[in-house]
Amino acid sequence: MYEPKTEAVRRRRTFAIISHPDAGKTTLTENLLLMGGAIRMAGQVKAKGERRRTQSDWMKIEQERGISVSSAVMTFEFEDTICNLLDTPGHEDFSEDTYRTLTAADSAIMVIDAAKGIEAQTLKLFEVCRLRDVPIITFINKVDREGQSPFELMDEIAERLALDTVPMMWPAGMGGLFKGLIDLRQNTFLPHTKGEEGTGEAVDFSSDAMAEYIPEKELETLREEAELAQVASPDFDLDLYRAGAMTPVFFGSALRKVGVRQLLRGVTSLAPSPRPQKTTVRTVEPDEAKVSGFVFKVQANMDANHRDRIAFMRLCSGRFKRGMKLKISSSGKVISVHNPILFFAQDRELVEEAWPGDIIGIPNHGTIRVGDTLTEGEDLVFTGIPNFAPEILQRVRLDDPMKMKHLRRALESLAEEGVTQVFKPKIGANWVIGVVGQLQLEVLRERIDAEYGIKVGLEPAPFETARWVSADDPLELKRFVDANQGNIAEDRDAAPVFMAKSAWEVGYITDKWPNISFSATRERQ
Ligand code: G4P
Repeated sequence: MYEPKTEAVRRRRTFAIISHPDAGKTTLTENLLLMGGAIRMAGQVKAKGERRRTQSDWMKIEQERGISVSSAVMTFEFEDTICNLLDTPGHEDFSEDTYRTLTAADSAIMVIDAAKGIEAQTLKLFEVCRLRDVPIITFINKVDREGQSPFELMDEIAERLALDTVPMMWPAGMGGLFKGLIDLRQNTFLPHTKGEEGTGEAVDFSSDAMAEYIPEKELETLREEAELAQVASPDFDLDLYRAGAMTPVFFGSALRKVGVRQLLRGVTSLAPSPRPQKTTVRTVEPDEAKVSGFVFKVQANMDANHRDRIAFMRLCSGRFKRGMKLKISSSGKVISVHNPILFFAQDRELVEEAWPGDIIGIPNHGTIRVGDTLTEGEDLVFTGIPNFAPEILQRVRLDDPMKMKHLRRALESLAEEGVTQVFKPKIGANWVIGVVGQLQLEVLRERIDAEYGIKVGLEPAPFETARWVSADDPLELKRFVDANQGNIAEDRDAAPVFMAKSAWEVGYITDKWPNISFSATRERQ
């Protein structure tokens, strides 16, 4: 098991929350921040309805539909640990963005609604975590409501996710009968303080003092249940958890602030600190002296007053200092990072230094892109931050042809965020945009209008999907491109893309051109 030597790295936990919409991620995030006394945050916790104004006013869709579209990073300190909490958009259309955000996390909290169990989006996000062996702590939320029995929930997780489950906390009753939480490892009881939020002082669960909280008969059953919960599950094994094969399970209620502190302690004591990261050349360890990091997200126009872009970089090694010169992998350009930022609510805050695990925002004018690696000079690229083949392709129709140039700029800069992709077909004047989900189209149209003042219409393109094409022999690639002009486009890096009318066509053309590679993902080099 890897343990960093540098104290500043050991103190850091960079994690994300994954859940199905409505399971309580926003509520939990807010309470985690409160618990830690948020010291700084990038973006903002998105709340539903009118509860809170979102920072991104342009995201009207987000407000109307009550979904959180753009991810944010929030940093807070809790009992001497620096927590970098990555917020992942819950809506399924944004899974690509979410996927990349998860590449920046060392671990995740999986929030499950006690009444609903594992839901579709939980499962999807879990699969992403599994691909990368991201360790997961489970939080079963809403125990203050009627839910499934804790045993059923544990079984469901174990069976559907093929994970060993180990309960750390156990609810004493649920819904109206909820009395508090049992800390199974400490053998203590945390009474739910009625009328107030949270839980009171811990009481020895085996002691007679318990009679004060739970009637005798009920207590007897509860003690049996707690014992069974422990006997029925394996012993907790830190290595297995960190390898992504076992999940410690916490119960609680984010809304009533029950079990949140215990969950956070679980993260600080069990979750890994920043881990070594793979690159094209070698594995980079956080303890290394030289700074390196990768960009997992670019957000354009975060602030209407500044036409800039913020690249979110996750630091992987070294001690970053403001003003440092860093080389960008894709262009070879060297930039001086004078204004690395962190956000506190609506304000930007300059950061003087940062450590592996931290996420810093670098303002730029399009020089830095999603997937870029930044180093002090070494030529390496962090791997595993792909672009995904779009599943919906649409043609962009411009109402005012005089604005063609503007449109191009708008499309390209929005594509730099990595959520939408733009393709310039070899034949035909209209741009084609590709997205992974339908909602992204609406967001895109809205943003082109709100941020660039251009009205566009989106209409179906005659294509359904796209594949990046490459070949060992450049002549063969040229032959392929020439033979299929009507299907060929370039992405924003001028890489050739084959646009197909159907999945069947992809299969057909793949068989016909055995020396051409067709790829559904593209990693930036
Ligand atoms: P999300 O980000 O995962 O989508 O979920 P969010 O936190 O917005 O919570 C979804 C709903 O579940 C909210 O209710 C929230 O108040 C409720 N909730 C969250 N945690 C708990 C809990 O521990 N117990 C109970 N009983 N409810 C919880 P809502 O009615 O949809 O929104 P609102 O009108 O309360 O804002």
